[in-house]
Amino acid sequence: TAVTSVAAPSTVSASNVAATPKEVTVLFGSQTGNCHGLAKKVSKKLEEQGFKVALSSMGDFKPNSLKNVQNLLILASTQGEGDPPDNAIPFYEFLHSKRAPQLEGKPFAVLGLGDTSYEFFCQTGKDFDKRLEELGGKRLISRVDCDVDYDEAASEWMNNVLASLSEASSATALVAGSGAAVESGAESEYSRTNPFKAEVLENLNLNGRGSDRETRHIELSLEGSNLQYEPGDSLGVYPENHPRLVDELIEAMGWKADELVTVNKNGEKQPLREALLRYYEITVLTKPLLEQAAKLTSSNGLKELVEAGREQELRTYLNEHDLLDLVQDYSLKGVSASEFVTILRKIPARLYSIASSSKAFPDEVHLTVRTVRYEARGRERYGVCSVQLAERIQSGDTLPVYIQSNSNFKLPESTDTPIIMIGPGTGVAPFRAFLGEREETGAEGKTWLFYGDQHFSTDFLYQTEWQRWLKQGVLTRMDVAFSRDTDKKVYVQHRMLEKSRELYQWLQEGASVYVCGDEKKMAHDVHAALTTIIEQEGNFSPEEAAEYLTRMQQQKRYQRDVY
Ligand code: 2AM
Repeated sequence: TAVTSVAAPSTVSASNVAATPKEVTVLFGSQTGNCHGLAKKVSKKLEEQGFKVALSSMGDFKPNSLKNVQNLLILASTQGEGDPPDNAIPFYEFLHSKRAPQLEGKPFAVLGLGDTSYEFFCQTGKDFDKRLEELGGKRLISRVDCDVDYDEAASEWMNNVLASLSEASSATALVAGSGAAVESGAESEYSRTNPFKAEVLENLNLNGRGSDRETRHIELSLEGSNLQYEPGDSLGVYPENHPRLVDELIEAMGWKADELVTVNKNGEKQPLREALLRYYEITVLTKPLLEQAAKLTSSNGLKELVEAGREQELRTYLNEHDLLDLVQDYSLKGVSASEFVTILRKIPARLYSIASSSKAFPDEVHLTVRTVRYEARGRERYGVCSVQLAERIQSGDTLPVYIQSNSNFKLPESTDTPIIMIGPGTGVAPFRAFLGEREETGAEGKTWLFYGDQHFSTDFLYQTEWQRWLKQGVLTRMDVAFSRDTDKKVYVQHRMLEKSRELYQWLQEGASVYVCGDEKKMAHDVHAALTTIIEQEGNFSPEEAAEYLTRMQQQKRYQRDVY
């Protein structure tokens, strides 16, 4: 029979695929690296089963080759307002455009990652799933939408995908996998599901006296862990809830602190106070949590709130309240602790962009963490991890951590490539890692840092380090914006616009642009500033300037680590 590039599953019988292993294309759209990690895992499993695997980020995948794909697996996470990750946008748009090919029964499966505390939970995964079906694809197995604690659900999805693909071609299992598509390396035994207890070496406040801010510089030891990272990667830290909040919750519910409750699916038990400190999330509310809590109470208020039609009110409630508010507002007192913990989510790790280069600090990892404290409805509210680091962690203590590699935020391959780094506030963290790396490798490429915060005298994080790097030429230029030192607010994007000619020149010379920090305001405004600069200096229309940036993004010359 003729070799065709498009093989609908019905035409592939076990006998004619025995010689050629069945091909599976695994595409991931990942912002922080979770989907990338899962995509690697499923690819490895498939190869072990004898499948030929093509693993690719959506950003690297040529949309036109979609028609040649035999079996398609999509793993995609969702950003804040239901948007795809940056590097998935071009593929997402292609697939939703008229240019998308008909898929004529092409087998596919989708895994979505998300967070039930967001309104548009797993929206990107849902969109892909729906669109692939519209285009004529044939679902191998139903889509799975994962919450923050995704390991188990993702594992089950992988097993079902494998079973489904193997069923369609049992003979392929005889063919050895090529192994080419899947990266491997000396791996640490420590991971998200088995964190390393890292000793705290240093914990300092970087802000000066009188600042409105508190930013901790934390140094941790990775000695003996075999954990490795590159500039741009993040560290996952499993935090503990604030003891005061835990105690208030126990009191409000009339529970006993030492009552034993289940803390995981294996049925392990811990005293309630311990469980609420270390195992369960008590600060973030989600819709599924409210729905289940409503079933535990006879009062109608909560049932009414979660009923469809009051979505906006529900969203506001979720965003502005914690578990203590919930049990007080909706008189959940009377529900037993053992019953109540069954509706709680596992406490998720917090991800921080790593602030050190491992070449400069072997066996160490540094973080830059801003303490989050505010008041709401007569009570102090605390950022779980940041306040723990600020108030209850000292050198000598240990923290459960793991490395989250982030292929979307990496230095250019060539050390000669100029880089422009935009990182106000704690967004500057990865750039300390970038410059540390460039110093250690003796890189020749030019570097330019845009930094900003409230006040020069108290909030200039790592000031002496930038100055040393400037003097040594590791840092070529630095422009700073201190927003509250002048009558009129100045932000990093204003400094960029002031230097627009030079900045554009750097872009034309092939510079890569990195943005790290606040997503909603800063990153959005910086994006607009970049568009303006390209438009003005390159004499482009707004559309052309936008395309210029999209092209940069596709070439990985415009990368963002925003939150
Ligand atoms: P502000 O709080 O004085 O308004 C780091 O957190 C810095 O980001 C602060 O100086 C903060 O200024 C500033 N910032 C706030 N909104 C911003 C925006 N839209 N663009 C850039 N920086 C912003």
